Amino acid sequence: MPRLIADRPVLHTSSDLGRVMEAARAREKAGERVLHLERGEPDFDTPAHIVEALARAAREGATHYPHERGEVRLREALVAKLAQQNGIVTHVDDITVTAGGTHALYLAIQCVLGAGDELLVLSPHWMAVPKMVGFAAGARYRSFPAYLHIQSGEWPPEAFAQALRAALRPETRAVYLNTPNNPTGVVLSRAYLEALASVAIERDLIVLSDEAYEHLTYDGAQHVSIGSLPGMAERTISVFSFSKSYAMTGWRVGYAVAPEPLRPVMAPLLAFYSTHGVFPAAQLAALAAVTGPQDDVQRFRASYDERRRLLLDGLASGGSVRAATPSGAFYVFANVAQARGSRDLWALVDEWMAFGVACLPGLAFGPEYGDWVRLALCTRAEDVKEAGARIARHTSVAPR
Ligand SMILES: Cc1ncc(COP(=O)(O)O)c(C=O)c1O
Repeated sequence: MPRLIADRPVLHTSSDLGRVMEAARAREKAGERVLHLERGEPDFDTPAHIVEALARAAREGATHYPHERGEVRLREALVAKLAQQNGIVTHVDDITVTAGGTHALYLAIQCVLGAGDELLVLSPHWMAVPKMVGFAAGARYRSFPAYLHIQSGEWPPEAFAQALRAALRPETRAVYLNTPNNPTGVVLSRAYLEALASVAIERDLIVLSDEAYEHLTYDGAQHVSIGSLPGMAERTISVFSFSKSYAMTGWRVGYAVAPEPLRPVMAPLLAFYSTHGVFPAAQLAALAAVTGPQDDVQRFRASYDERRRLLLDGLASGGSVRAATPSGAFYVFANVAQARGSRDLWALVDEWMAFGVACLPGLAFGPEYGDWVRLALCTRAEDVKEAGARIARHTSVAPR
């Protein structure tokens, strides 16, 4: 009998999002209405000028095997974008165009982690990270709860640096950072990134900086790239994506910026032998996205901002589900300890599904988040408002 599934724990894990989406589909099939706050996928269509650029590029013959590092015109535009927007000074050959941010992160993890190495993951964290570490044979990940302590004001930058130092182990090789953060919406200020940078330099750590939500910040919060800080370019792999900023999730275009010593590895080996590059016409459409008008990015941002307020107002009116105001990304991470009571978190998630609100259990974002759920703002404002009202109605503690 041939072995169809190798004996690797990661191949035996399941997806929490998959479970919630399946439950939502079953309800919809039965004729019920579900408000979709489970999925972190922009509900907007890709802007027309980007779609047009794809069609034009394909008609003009951008349909052959791509360059291993990515279309040179796109990488040149990205060198300029990184310098202007991110303060990252890089060389055109240190950028690898990837099949989305997911692939960029996958490549980064493959480069950095060997058997016995640990990735310390600032948490709550994007749920794909542990799985990707699982694909690096013998590597481990460990959750380091940080964003909620920062969001609550409990950890000023120096306390954060101290806690990080204390969490490191001899086998810790790299730290995964994600700002703006999925799922809390925390945007780490320069002071926090400087604190992290000082520990990374002192302990000779690599930083994997996931900046998929770089353009989505609110209330004046500024996105800062850790790779722009002194001494960090040589130890940071920065990961970016077109998915969230330009509503291009299906196009699968992202990129990694890596230190020069990885130049012979990232693209010629890892990217080439995993995907052989990204559809060139999609890359030229991404070029149109970076170099063209940015009004749509601002339109999307304004819309998430409005939805964020609607949801927070709704939750506040119920009184038992508590959530801090996110300053970035498009999620609200809500504390449901009171609404959950002594029940399992999945019992609450199923109950919310029964009143028509799909959400993701906090446990998807680290083992410490059994009292939390993530609510995504990727559905129309009316639905977000309705979801907030339903949650408030069903979990209310205030006399009505
Ligand atoms: C934090 C974070 N990083 C990276 C990604 C990857 O997105 P993509 O592969 O579509 O670029 C996501 C997607 O949800 C995310 O939430």
